[in-house]
Amino acid sequence: ASRVTPGDLTRLKADGKRIVALTAYDRPTAMVCEAAGVDVILVGDSLGNVLLGYETTLPVTMDDMLHHVRAVARSTHQALVVADLPFLSYQADQAEALRNAGRFLKEGGAQAVKLEGGSRSAETIERMVTAGIPVMGHLGYTPQSAHVFGRNVVQGRDVDVATTLVHDALVLEEAGCFAIVLECVPHEVARAISERLRIPTIGIGAGNGCDGQILVFHDAVGWGPGANLKFVKRYANVGDILRQAVSDYAREVREGVFPAAEHSFSMSAEARVLFEQ
Ligand code: KIV
Ligand code: NA
Repeated sequence: ASRVTPGDLTRLKADGKRIVALTAYDRPTAMVCEAAGVDVILVGDSLGNVLLGYETTLPVTMDDMLHHVRAVARSTHQALVVADLPFLSYQADQAEALRNAGRFLKEGGAQAVKLEGGSRSAETIERMVTAGIPVMGHLGYTPQSAHVFGRNVVQGRDVDVATTLVHDALVLEEAGCFAIVLECVPHEVARAISERLRIPTIGIGAGNGCDGQILVFHDAVGWGPGANLKFVKRYANVGDILRQAVSDYAREVREGVFPAAEHSFSMSAEARVLFEQ
């Protein structure tokens, strides 16, 4: 099967079918997503928190991202691979933004990029789309602005911010985005945006009225610090399974139980005779 394209996502929305997206940062997680038929794999800058141990996504670099985008692109052939532009890779300068986005396609093997922000990002998005780079938008709670938001995670509970979100979503569609992530937005606002747009919305903490859903892989399988967030549903307890496996391994090594005979190699009978003389 050939890869899902941005146009396929618009068709899914038009046909009333929901889009399935997850993050993946490496080969094993990407292969699990592909085997399950996930439409969109996002190599999110959330890898800064999930894999690299940062408190926010702000320290993540282009090189960090490229390292993981390549691994995911090499390991997949069906899903649309979207690469997340990290903090300061697209905000400072238009030419730099275009080159960084292009690197994700040219060197990373991704098929699209994602960046945060509404009207402030519209010109940047237009330039990328003009250059042939499909762009996914991201509105609502945008983690690269964590220090601006502070503890105000949900965006659009009041009419002013809700109205701005609707306006920004229309601006992003007009700028050429093929889809928009809505993060931590009241379900009423996310549904209204989804109904106004031709392009699909992909929700995370944005209720059931979006055209698709995304979660951080590790949160969805119960393997990481975010698994207890309100908007996460934990579909497995992979962390518990891994902790059990590693403590069994440690015990068996300490007790001399592992490796058993079946995990060991033998010499030939003739060689053994000569060797033991
Ligand atoms: O980095 C990320 O994982 C994201 C998704 C949560 C949308 O941006
Ligand atoms: Na992100």
